[in-house]
This record gives sequence, C-alpha cells and structure tokens, in this order.
Amino acid sequence: MKEILVLYYSHRGSVRALAEQITLGIHQVPGVAARVRTVPKVSTVCEAVEDDIPASGPPYVEVRDLEECVGLAIGSPTRFGNMAAPMKYFLDGLAGPWVNGTLAGKPASVFTSTASQHGGQESTLLSMMMPLLHHGMLIMGLPYTEPALNRTRTGGTPYGVSHVAGADGNPAPSADEIELAIAQGRRLAEIALTLAAGRA
Ligand SMILES: Cc1cc2nc3c(=O)[nH]c(=O)nc-3n(C[C@H](O)[C@H](O)[C@H](O)COP(=O)(O)O)c2cc1C
Repeated sequence: MKEILVLYYSHRGSVRALAEQITLGIHQVPGVAARVRTVPKVSTVCEAVEDDIPASGPPYVEVRDLEECVGLAIGSPTRFGNMAAPMKYFLDGLAGPWVNGTLAGKPASVFTSTASQHGGQESTLLSMMMPLLHHGMLIMGLPYTEPALNRTRTGGTPYGVSHVAGADGNPAPSADEIELAIAQGRRLAEIALTLAAGRA
C-alpha cells in the first residue's frame, strides 16, 4: 500500500474539513491510503512546548512521514495572505530532508481556507508551493476539466482547493469545494502511484 501524507494546520476547523475531503479522494484510488498529520502551534514564548501527542486529531508529523510517503498534500489557513506560522516553522526545519533529496521527484499539492473571498487564497497557495519546489517536488494543481472549477462561487482555484469560511469561520465546505477537494486527492494519488511505479 502506497501512502500520501496529508499534512495540515487548522485552528478553527476549515482546513481540517478540506483535508478530510482530500483524504476521501485519495482513498478512491486502489492501492493508495492517506496518512494524516498535523503540526503543533508555535508560541512567542520560546520556552512553551506542546505535548508529544495532540489531545485530539491526527498525530504530529515526523520526518519519517515525509520519507515513507509517495506524495504530499499540505494545507494551512491564510494568515495575512500567507501560510500560518506553524506550517512555515515546520517547513523551515526541513534542511535535512532537503540535503538528502527526500522529497525530490514526489508529487505535491496545496490547500487553504480564508475568511473572505478575496483575502489571499492564491498568494497563500503559492507561498506553500515555493519551499516544495526547493525540495524538488512536482507541484500539482487542479485542471479546468473539473466542472466545479468553472462553476464555483465559493472556494476552489487551479492552484489547489480552497474554502471561504466567512467572517464567522464556518468550516463546512460548499458542494463545489468538496468536489474539488476529492478531485485533488484522487488526482494526487493517481499521479503518485504512477510516479512511484516508475521509480520502483
Ligand atoms: C492572524 C490571522 C490572519 C488572517 N489573515 C487572513 C487573510 O489575510 N485573509 C483572509 O481572508 N482571512 C484571514 N484570516 C482568517 C482565516 O484565514 C480563516 O478564518 C480560515 O478559514 C481559518 O482556517 P481554520 O478554520 O482551518 O483555522 C486570518 C486569521 C487570523 C487569525
């Protein structure tokens, strides 16, 4: 069984809801399973440490998750048009895997959630792609052959699936966002399987 790492940070549940749909899409592809992981919060208090295991939700990611999985989907809420600090902090700690080429040649895709429709979804998605390109990952978006991409009046971009949570932070994805998240997971799993077979 090949695995895709679905790695996200979510404070209020919107990005987690997209991760769950991407996971459903991954599981539509025979022979592929999702490995879901999260990252701890960071604190301005340097001494603050999180428990090794979160009180709820998926376990914290470890470098071996990157090594063992054949593809990666990362998601973060938008923070001022950029990814959230906990995800950036994790990515900034990956000098070892970068030197070793752990992620080189593996496919990756990104996802996000914002409060407002034009609050920086694309810039956040692009900001998450940049470190992955440095690692030599093959970045994968969503094609307009997905009908929901032309139809959506909520989230969903060719750079990766997204959710518009609104000012009240509603985490429930729209029907179009669900369709696109599942398509993204399925597409990532299919491409990862093909590439992994080529490497074997
Ligand atoms: C510090 C901070 C900065 C934010 N910046 C933006 C922003 O630039 N644009 C936007 O639309 N929403 C912004 N938001 C709202 C979150 O992106 C939005 O609520 C998102 O859906 C949260 O995802 P989550 O439920 O997975 O935590 C910001 C929220 C916080 C706390």
